Amino acid sequence: MKNIAVIGAGTMGNGIAHTFAQKGFKVQLIDISQQALDKGLATIGKNLDRMVAKEKITEADKNSTLENITTATSLKEGVEYAELVVEAATENIDLKLKIFEDLSELCSEETILATNTSSISITQIAAVTVRPERVIGMHFMNPVPIMKLVEIIRGYNTSDEVTKTIMDISKQLGKIPTEVNDYPGFVANRILMPMINESIETLYNGVAGVQEIDTVMKLGMAHPMGPLQLADFIGLDVCLSILNVMYDGFKNPKYAPCPLLVNMVMAGKLGVKSGEGFYDYSESRKAENVAKQFQ
Ligand SMILES: NC(=O)c1ccc[n+]([C@@H]2O[C@H](COP(=O)([O-])OP(=O)(O)OC[C@H]3O[C@@H](n4cnc5c(N)ncnc54)[C@H](O)[C@@H]3O)[C@@H](O)[C@H]2O)c1
Repeated sequence: MKNIAVIGAGTMGNGIAHTFAQKGFKVQLIDISQQALDKGLATIGKNLDRMVAKEKITEADKNSTLENITTATSLKEGVEYAELVVEAATENIDLKLKIFEDLSELCSEETILATNTSSISITQIAAVTVRPERVIGMHFMNPVPIMKLVEIIRGYNTSDEVTKTIMDISKQLGKIPTEVNDYPGFVANRILMPMINESIETLYNGVAGVQEIDTVMKLGMAHPMGPLQLADFIGLDVCLSILNVMYDGFKNPKYAPCPLLVNMVMAGKLGVKSGEGFYDYSESRKAENVAKQFQ
């Protein structure tokens, strides 16, 4: 397998494109927004520069990685030669169902259709295609070039052959794939999101402030980043949408999103990407607050 299409050039899409391209795959990065493509490419360039500065890769590696990536704003053009499509568009069920309906028509019968969704049912996405056995979850972690885990989610109909191919490709990327079944939140978010939600609830109830909650979890539990800052990095809108999928899917109040999280998302405070969440990421404070994750 050589030709990969990545749909969505946002936080995850550009990281996924970077990771495949660095391992020699030809990547078509697709987004409906030219601005998102330009921003995605600029981010990949900056991340590669950082790797060169740290002597993790050479200047030649950086150049060949960038040469392996082309961009498209049309889905039809972008997926024409794809043997594997990894969808990393916005976490919205109607949007993903439409994309997979289109992919089912546009791609060759052999193409594997993977989604990076954090929580939406792989089985439901697969059901809108004519080849549910070739649809699978390939859940990368943020930041993709650095994080080792890929959660591989088998839908109800995903074939053994497709699962094996995706496990093997993940290993080729230098990742550690872990196979799980398709239930709301899979494994990663079923455990992570209730922790993040409880941290927000703890803040909402006035038990402690943002810094104090994160400090307890960093220094007391040896987490590399506090849960509130992690939520800022994931995106508060993404956290809310995952909690809602688990709340609806299990019909269990323990997954009900904290009202403070709902309010912050409605107010447009989405974390790093909007410039403010639990921390301030406006230009003047960004360096300081992003650096906190490494303290
Ligand atoms: N942010 C995280 O930490 C994280 C981690 C794991 C998985 N995910 C999942 O990855 C996916 C992407 O999340 P993100 O954080 O990168 O989102 P994002 O908002 O940063 O990027 C989404 C991109 O998708 C593009 N897009 C929207 N509709 C499209 C369409 N029809 N065709 C092509 N592109 C389209 C948008 O223009 C945007 O550039 C979601 O399913 C999310 O749940 C996110």
